[in-house]
Amino acid sequence: ENLVALHGAETIAAVMVEPIAGSTGVLVPPKGYLERLRALCTKHGILLIFDEVITGFGRIGTNFGAERLGVTPDIMTMAKGLTNAAVPMGAVAVRNGVYDAIVEGAPTGIELFHGYTYSGHPLAAAAAIATMELHREEDLPGRARAIEPLWQEATHSLRDLPNVIDIRDYGLIAGIELAPRGGKPGQRAMEVFRRCFDSGVLIRVTGDIIALSPPLIIEPKHIDRLYGTLSDAIRAEAA
Ligand SMILES: Cc1ncc(COP(=O)(O)O)c(C=O)c1O
Repeated sequence: ENLVALHGAETIAAVMVEPIAGSTGVLVPPKGYLERLRALCTKHGILLIFDEVITGFGRIGTNFGAERLGVTPDIMTMAKGLTNAAVPMGAVAVRNGVYDAIVEGAPTGIELFHGYTYSGHPLAAAAAIATMELHREEDLPGRARAIEPLWQEATHSLRDLPNVIDIRDYGLIAGIELAPRGGKPGQRAMEVFRRCFDSGVLIRVTGDIIALSPPLIIEPKHIDRLYGTLSDAIRAEAA
């Protein structure tokens, strides 16, 4: 609201957020935050865009983050899970009003289509179709929902380890924040990454935050292995 007052709603085309911010360190929105964003955007005629590249396709137990979080954006961007990331592909979905404004607003008749070199690439399209079939057949959002309690229990079992200062999770996403080493931000988490990698477990770090989003077909034995390796690595980097 302050930014709108400062700059004027007419200068703001859109607000773009991830429903749950990933690369900035797994930031789960406070209760009511997305609802308030939605209300402000609607009130001021500003488009609300959800980047569902991480939260889309079952990651938090529903097809899209928007569904579980109960807030509908005007535009949604997607990638990763769309093809199981086996082949690069991105997609954008817009609500009817946005589509009509673009397609019917131009006298010469334009489409949403954008002329990328690889637009509609047959290999990517085939991968997306195959992925969506499996997504439905194997009910991947349902799998994520079913294993979520175990995943969250395992995530929070790290809470008493040295230097763990915060744990945030939602669906099959987890962020484990470590206290940085004095004057060397990011170093502790990078060393944890190296130790895990040497033990055959791939994690992602962003600053001193370990950001996890496992395959939706993860099983209890994989969760044990992941968190067993991770807790050994965190302990080994206690100093
Ligand atoms: C939330 C989010 N949005 C966008 C991107 C970039 O997506 P792309 O490389 O498909 O443009 C990423 C990449 O990791 C991401 O995590």
